[in-house]
Amino acid sequence: MCGIIAYLGPKDAPSVVLDGLKKLEYRGYDSWGIGCLSKGKILLVKKVGKVGQAKTSDLGLGAAGMAVGHTRWATHGGISEKNAHPHLDCSGKLALVHNGIVENYQELRKRLQAQNHKFVSESDTEVIVHLVENYLNLGLRKAVERAASELKGRSAFVVLDSSGEIAAARTGSPLIVGCGEGEFFIASDIPAFLSHTRKVMYLDDGQMVMIGKAGPQFFDLASGKEAKKRVVEIDWNVEAAEKGDYEHFLIKEIMEQKDTLWQAISQDEAKIAKVAGQIKDAYGTFLVGCGTAGKVCMAGEYFFAKIARKHVNFAVASEFPSYESFLQPRTLMIAVSQSGETADVLEAIAAARKKKARVISLLNVFGSTMMRVSDEVFMVNAGVEKAVVSTKATTAQLSVLLLLAYASAGRLAEGKRLLLDTASAVNDMLNPRYEEHIKRLAERLHQSEHIYIIGRGLNYPIALEAAIKIQETSYIHAEGFAGGELKHGPIALISRGTPCIVMAANDDSFHEIISNAMEVKARGGHIIGISPQNNEVFDYWIKVPDAGNASPIVNIIPVQILAYHLAVIKGLDPDMPRNLAKSVTVK
Ligand code: G6P
Repeated sequence: MCGIIAYLGPKDAPSVVLDGLKKLEYRGYDSWGIGCLSKGKILLVKKVGKVGQAKTSDLGLGAAGMAVGHTRWATHGGISEKNAHPHLDCSGKLALVHNGIVENYQELRKRLQAQNHKFVSESDTEVIVHLVENYLNLGLRKAVERAASELKGRSAFVVLDSSGEIAAARTGSPLIVGCGEGEFFIASDIPAFLSHTRKVMYLDDGQMVMIGKAGPQFFDLASGKEAKKRVVEIDWNVEAAEKGDYEHFLIKEIMEQKDTLWQAISQDEAKIAKVAGQIKDAYGTFLVGCGTAGKVCMAGEYFFAKIARKHVNFAVASEFPSYESFLQPRTLMIAVSQSGETADVLEAIAAARKKKARVISLLNVFGSTMMRVSDEVFMVNAGVEKAVVSTKATTAQLSVLLLLAYASAGRLAEGKRLLLDTASAVNDMLNPRYEEHIKRLAERLHQSEHIYIIGRGLNYPIALEAAIKIQETSYIHAEGFAGGELKHGPIALISRGTPCIVMAANDDSFHEIISNAMEVKARGGHIIGISPQNNEVFDYWIKVPDAGNASPIVNIIPVQILAYHLAVIKGLDPDMPRNLAKSVTVK
């Protein structure tokens, strides 16, 4: 979703900001823009499409020591230069970029129009810059404070003032200040400035920052009081966030699962045992997440049922309002989110906190909002995941949930052993020959109109996740089903040659899923089996290690590779699928 980077310092600001935007591309966007202060005037450039190979010399902005840039993922108003950020106030002295949604923008816009403010876009963001302009006679800081107090919804905005200062406010969406040598950055996420500095200061919700030549000063938005901040040194390395020898982030991150599973498993065992105890004692546990993380939560429900004989409830975070009435102080919420910023998950957490329920989060981004609003956090340690399509974060999340399920059954050591063996098997599995075998399958499937995936038990949620992978990268219609549900409707969709991927783990569901595969084959379906053992029903067999209760972890990996190669063969961008965003900060 939208990305922000601003710079103030001795370097050429438009170049630094343009470079920062390239680092933010992974978030997913459809237009972009840069505003800078050049010889006392604000100059803008806005474009539809990708930043791609754009050079500073193409921008025509001239030299500047202060600039702000934005990648926009359209919400209010179509994808156009006019709606791209930055937005200007009537005088052209303020340039503003924004992440989030101004839920009350219609009434604010009417009020500001009645006060003679001229609007040139359809974007909700434009009201913020006119609001700041409205109060500018109070000074920039107070104007930002007043404007922020009138906005409803989750937001983060940065405003560049032609007097030479930058102000930024956070009311729900993340902003991080980077502090280099005599230079300062503000960004929606750290990779935007990681090549310049690793020293950061986090803005909390309800805070703002003013940055002039002397550096940043933080304030509480409600009280106006100065807020003290600590400088945190980030230990990410720049290379980890680059493609290295790989052509795309997606395949690099899929291959990194050779290591990330080990990292995910190395958790503080005392903490795992403590949380397992809390799950046992809780009066109702909810697993909440969105998209792929939602499917991980659903797999978690199966892990707890099968391994710990414990009923935990899975809920898609955007649907959680329907469950809110079950919350009470003894409820436990386990939120799963790679970004730690997903708006719907944050809303579910807020509802839990309101009822004084305990919140535990499984996260991949250090310093994210969820980290601050949770009682306990497990980092899944997958490292920076840049492809929009989640892979290594997913298997890391599955691993931590599996550990928790084993711990809840009082069998933590057994769970750990299983996961260590699985990590080692994945290490062997992910070799060039294996990738080639799946690439050949992609060559057969890339013209398919539909691909169906079936699974049972632990692998039913993984069939759903597999469908997401294929949809995201290849735009082929893919759908996952519980094997037993096929004959209640979906089997009507099977005709000669329809591809159907069958997740056949070596567990108590094996014979039944094979029967379901037979039913599909009998109607002309082309069966692709993902299984530790071959079977006569498979037209194409993809071997996976026999991982017992960890089968969801190994079974999703070949589909990730398939999804990658489908995109490449179809000439699509596997890292940045159309319409999607890595961090979904709007509801
Ligand atoms: C987006 C991402 C998905 C992710 C989902 C939830 O749709 O593209 O990969 O599963 O958001 O995000 P989260 O950060 O909460 O895991």
